[in-house]
Amino acid sequence: MKVYFQIFHYGGFIWAVIALILLLNAWVSARKGNIVRHQLIMMILTLGGWIFILGYLVRYRFPEYIPNVPPEYIPWLAFHGSVGIVILIGATYLVWGRLTQSRTPNRQSHVNKYHQIYGRIFIALWGFTHLGGLVNFFLFSQP
Ligand code: HEM
Repeated sequence: MKVYFQIFHYGGFIWAVIALILLLNAWVSARKGNIVRHQLIMMILTLGGWIFILGYLVRYRFPEYIPNVPPEYIPWLAFHGSVGIVILIGATYLVWGRLTQSRTPNRQSHVNKYHQIYGRIFIALWGFTHLGGLVNFFLFSQP
């Protein structure tokens, strides 16, 4: 029964490292005007983020997978999880805006008009969340 926990634990660590590299790459691509690459990476990251959350929630479906959380970690985990979910919803909104909403100057939708501002905030917080994920890996590694 511990197998899923182990897969999620190590898989989550590897995903956090890959996602940090991809986030940086997506930001540099946008700055350099390589929008196709930026778009592709952000779509992969957003999809990956939702798959990660689903994988996380599955653990709470089965009592034997639920990790033992020491009470002193709860405020940190609540903060980490809340920032993570807000960013993921925000990123989904940015992707959805670019794929479905107007980009015509003067008529573009709110989400597209402020893409750059929202994007900079979300990417920075997203990086912070993945760094927190790396910290969590060590917090929950068995001695
Ligand atoms: C379908 C998905 C996406 C497309 C097509 C797209 C497209 C673009 C384009 C065209 C720009 C250039 C500036 C502009 O026109 O406003 C840009 C910039 C940017 N995007 Fe995206 N984007 C996507 C998703 C995202 C997501 C999900 C995020 C963050 C969560 C993000 C973060 C950024 C950032 C930070 C910049 C500005 C880079 C800088 O100058 O610092 N993008 N994006």
